[in-house]
Amino acid sequence: MNATWYNIQSNLEQKEMFVKDSTLNVNYDNTNQKLIALKGDKFREYRQKWEATYKTTTLIDFPLHIDFETVYGCNYHCAICHLNYIYPQATDFMSIKKLFDFNLFKKIIDEGLDNGLCAITVNNVGEPLLRDDIDKFIYYATDRGVLDIWMSTNGSLLSSEMAKKLIISGLTRINISLDAATESTYLKIRKSKNLKKVIKNIHDLIELRDKLGSVTPVVKVSFCVTNINEHEVDEFIALWKPHVDAISIQQYWDANKVTDLTAHNRVIEKFNCLEPFHRLAINVDGTVSPCCLIWRDGFLMGDAKESSIHDVWHSDKMNRLRQSIITGEFPEEFHKCVECIESRF
Ligand SMILES: C[S@@+](CC[C@H](N)C(=O)[O-])C[C@H]1O[C@@H](n2cnc3c(N)ncnc32)[C@H](O)[C@@H]1O
Ligand code: SF4
Ligand code: SF4
Repeated sequence: MNATWYNIQSNLEQKEMFVKDSTLNVNYDNTNQKLIALKGDKFREYRQKWEATYKTTTLIDFPLHIDFETVYGCNYHCAICHLNYIYPQATDFMSIKKLFDFNLFKKIIDEGLDNGLCAITVNNVGEPLLRDDIDKFIYYATDRGVLDIWMSTNGSLLSSEMAKKLIISGLTRINISLDAATESTYLKIRKSKNLKKVIKNIHDLIELRDKLGSVTPVVKVSFCVTNINEHEVDEFIALWKPHVDAISIQQYWDANKVTDLTAHNRVIEKFNCLEPFHRLAINVDGTVSPCCLIWRDGFLMGDAKESSIHDVWHSDKMNRLRQSIITGEFPEEFHKCVECIESRF
């Protein structure tokens, strides 16, 4: 093991987690109640498990949730995006585009369903609607019994045809990231003139979903708060509350400080990362990360093409990472965690 260690104060004993913002505590979300009413006891039990595992370092036998990077790369080039940390000089994120192998996806879903997997996300960093066959992935997971299937998209490719495919495939939740109430702010953050089109796409999706008599996907819009858009939070909420199932006002994560953007003036009381205790992420090439963040290289935990997810989940490296999180002492191999955690302070 490397000799360099980084110490941060471990605050797991405090049991409370994450960010509490002094002024932006406005998340509005009744989607779980809707989904429990729709899907019944199994879904309720899964949400109860999620609540329990989200607060504990007790290890479960298999991740409850897996994030799949079905697409790497994007047709947008947002100022806030995590991809800027990896490609600070890039002028677009299309040239890095890669697609996840469907057979590998099926293998992991099949293993997961035998072992207690309840939920997946069909994107990580990247734009999932860049692949026209994304509904094939969702349909497979729905058909095999995954209870909760999440997607986040920029919404630019959410045509009526795609909306119909997503509804029919069984997608449970869709988030459309907007970050703005006006076109000028959208242009500054998402660097696109598409706001009107994206708004229309969202309304069309909701209309079609209701017309088809489907509750899913429940629709959320999100707003990542920075110095550039903080003045539009109230307008954003007022605009969307009558139409969507949920609104998420997100904290800006500014690790490595590669852009001029700053996070909204916030009060962070405590941050404990418990992702590696309940969740895993599979990268576009099948390698496995301990969380949905973007680090690769030394931060990889295994390769799903070569090992079972169960083996990676219980590997020595995953256990060393969990131990570091518990003690607050991070060796060189996990130094990205320190950057990640400190970027929240
Ligand atoms: C990385 S995107 C990928 C999916 C899709 N392309 C989208 O924009 O929704 C997933 C979510 O991360 C958010 N996000 C991106 N960069 C962020 C950052 N630096 N801090 C906080 N959230 C960020 C986006 O706003 C989006 O809601
Ligand atoms: S749309 Fe999503 S993945 Fe694409 S650049 Fe923006 S935040 Fe990143
Ligand atoms: S980088 Fe480390 S601290 Fe950050 S989310 Fe991933 S596992 Fe947690």
